[in-house]
Amino acid sequence: MSAPKELPKELEELQAPARPAEPRKKDESSMLDSLTLGHGLRLEDLVDREALGEVCRSFFALFGIPVRIYAQDGQLLADAVEDQAICRYVQGLREGRAACGATVSAVKGADPGALGEATHPCFTGAMYRIIGLDYDGKRLGRIILGPYLPNEVREVPRSLLRIDPGVDPDQAKALLPKMARVRPETVTRIAKHLQSVLDLILFSGHRALLTSQMHLASVRESYRELQERNQRLSDSFERLKELDRLKSNFLATVSHELRTPLTSILGYGEMLAEGIAGPLNAEQTEFVATIRDKGEQLLSLIKSLLDQSKLESGTLSLKMGDVAIGNVLKDVASTLMPACLRKGVELEVELPPYVPSMRGDAERLRQVFLNLAENAVKFTAAGGLVRLVVETEQSGTAPDDDVGFVLFATRPTAIVARVEDTGIGIPASERGRIFDAFYQVDGSSTREHGGTGLGLSIVKRIVEMHGGSIAVGANPALEGRVDRKSIPPGSRRTGFGSVFTVRFPLP
Ligand SMILES: Nc1ncnc2c1ncn2[C@@H]1O[C@H](COP(=O)(O)OP(=O)(O)O)[C@@H](O)[C@H]1O
Ligand SMILES: [Mg+2]
Repeated sequence: MSAPKELPKELEELQAPARPAEPRKKDESSMLDSLTLGHGLRLEDLVDREALGEVCRSFFALFGIPVRIYAQDGQLLADAVEDQAICRYVQGLREGRAACGATVSAVKGADPGALGEATHPCFTGAMYRIIGLDYDGKRLGRIILGPYLPNEVREVPRSLLRIDPGVDPDQAKALLPKMARVRPETVTRIAKHLQSVLDLILFSGHRALLTSQMHLASVRESYRELQERNQRLSDSFERLKELDRLKSNFLATVSHELRTPLTSILGYGEMLAEGIAGPLNAEQTEFVATIRDKGEQLLSLIKSLLDQSKLESGTLSLKMGDVAIGNVLKDVASTLMPACLRKGVELEVELPPYVPSMRGDAERLRQVFLNLAENAVKFTAAGGLVRLVVETEQSGTAPDDDVGFVLFATRPTAIVARVEDTGIGIPASERGRIFDAFYQVDGSSTREHGGTGLGLSIVKRIVEMHGGSIAVGANPALEGRVDRKSIPPGSRRTGFGSVFTVRFPLP
């Protein structure tokens, strides 16, 4: 049995301020620091407090020794403690309470040092064990075990009796033994065990933390990449818009400059053809006719280019009026009739008895259907059929029974005009693109048909300016009986013909 130490020296020690924590060693753990995005590892970030509390409680239940776990900055993270009878008694005395407070704060501030373990005595004869909580070479916090009564303390120490004038030796003697009595080696074993359990918890906590931080870092990285890519995309988009604007300006200027001299050429051609400059022989007449023909072609090309640039700059305006779409189609048919006769393509117009008129620009609508019908004739071989059809869509159904009663009055909701042909057709995969400016299917095979690829793009925009829509498909009337002979070898054409459907909703 060892004699209890003298109080004054002990108290002095107890009240000494805690030494500052040792500076952290620079070692391989700095790599971990960089993984944890520069922050030092902190106990409170690594562990789940619930789990920590659970560990403390189970140790307390097993050994009866109070357990507290502190973070490196002194924050209490978990504990399992019970008031000791002797402590309660001492706290009831004035001097005793002060001495007790001093001991507790000294224990809290005690540093386990490089060895990772320190003990701190209490004037009651009890002991505290302070154990460093290290992880990966770093001190993250500490465990405080105690107070417990070392096995060798068999009598009430003098330090306890002298702590307050009011200490009653009999009371002290009765209460002190109620504290858990343990051998120092046992405390060491308990501490080791506790440390290894916490090590495990820290390890899994660290792994979870790293995983989530790596996940975060990779999300951040992809976000950054995405932003960069977005920036590049929007830069290119701006540049493309600028180029597009330049191209439109160029188109407008060039077309305008071409148009003026071409008008003169056509005018003089006409005068020559009419014999104003003197009579022409047969060959001269033929040459002049060719000049006028090609001139007209060039003029329509220039008109398309001008339309295109007006559409792009948004300066194309419609002269709105009431339009009878049937008349527009009849007009288109009569314009194309000579060409159809020459080519041997049959041309039909089919109109219902009554078609409501629609609001629109008659000249632009004529342009739409002329373009569609010209395409139809162009891509249909001799012997084929081109039909211009108008239908109206009605609201609701009008069941027309055997007797011929119409049960519901209906109202036309849309005018639908179709341009159907029995020509070479458009592969389904191309149907989305033919409305793009300058796009032609199989550039090479259409070359023989001439054209610029502007027609449908203009058609679509004019239709849309009228609040309408346009769609294209194969000609259902032809499925299964296709004239493959008219399809160029190696072409992707179906030979199923085409149907362009233009739909104008009515107000
Ligand atoms: N009725 C049709 N039958 C087959 N192909 C067509 C038809 N109409 C249009 N196309 C295809 O769509 C392309 C684009 O038509 P369009 O814009 O009018 O240009 P272009 O007539 O000047 O070639 C045409 O080159 C052609 O390949
Ligand atoms: Mg065309």
